[in-house]
Amino acid sequence: MDSIVQKINDLKKKRNAVILVHNYQLPEIQDIADFLGDSLGLSQKAAETNAKVIVFCGVHFMAQTASILCPDKIVLMPDVNAGCPMANMINAEDVRQLKKEQQDTLVVAYVNTTAEVKAESDVCCTSANAVKIVNSLPAEKIIFIPDKYLGQYVASQSQKEIIFWEGYCPVHAGILASDMLRAKREHPKAEALVHPECTPDVIALADKVFSTTGMCNYAKKTKSKEIIVGTETGIIYRLQKENPDKKFYPASKRAICEDMKKNNLEKVLWSLENLKHEVKVEEKIRRKAKKAIDKMLEFSRVD
Ligand code: 13P
Ligand code: SF4
Repeated sequence: MDSIVQKINDLKKKRNAVILVHNYQLPEIQDIADFLGDSLGLSQKAAETNAKVIVFCGVHFMAQTASILCPDKIVLMPDVNAGCPMANMINAEDVRQLKKEQQDTLVVAYVNTTAEVKAESDVCCTSANAVKIVNSLPAEKIIFIPDKYLGQYVASQSQKEIIFWEGYCPVHAGILASDMLRAKREHPKAEALVHPECTPDVIALADKVFSTTGMCNYAKKTKSKEIIVGTETGIIYRLQKENPDKKFYPASKRAICEDMKKNNLEKVLWSLENLKHEVKVEEKIRRKAKKAIDKMLEFSRVD
């Protein structure tokens, strides 16, 4: 009998499908990826693929971004209940209100937002390009939504006035300075990398701050043989696979995003068999949200 991975690969060919996978997914899902990456890389891949079907193994805002960019493709989520709690911490009405209260500003929305929120924003960003985008915009005052910690990190790298929103990632906010201190005590020779969704006191204890793919690229380059990883622990599988001669330690073993772990191979196969669950965005919202995402991709092309 064919293995489940074989069945997925056969069906992928038949459907002309591509499997896009985020760095936090379970090892078995990372291993079937056509492309494995961070939010920026995944949206760039979605924008350029020729496949007819995109199976998105990540969380809802990521699949929605792919669907906004590729309305003619079928974008599928194997588990449609995989959401991002941070994306639900702000809605379109909140953004309209902020714009009313703050004159002469531009709105930068982290991609971890709904399509409706993106549609109210001037430009999107990810953790990989937030600093660059904020610093390049023709406004001295920026409304940055929804992640206050990413916003604070950007503010520390910018001269601009930043208006924050009270959003945060519960997984990254759960990594404590005491976790970092313990990890550093246990592994005194290790270099510490953290994600900019971490709190400022955790970032202050790190050697470098990167998006998830930024961490993967840096891990290959650095001479350090031991690395403390301050982000969701799913990325350690990829880091270890790509760098078998190095050792990776989670800053906190509790840093697990339950939504990112909702996919499994059975759900991916089911998704390809039944072409479910399709993620679609209403056309009026899609067109407005696409402008903000396109602007982000434009900024990232100059990289
Ligand atoms: P990256 O874009 O760095 O992969 O981060 C996505 C995310 O959800 C982090 O929590
Ligand atoms: Fe959202 Fe945090 Fe999970 Fe990323 S790790 S998807 S920001 S809850």
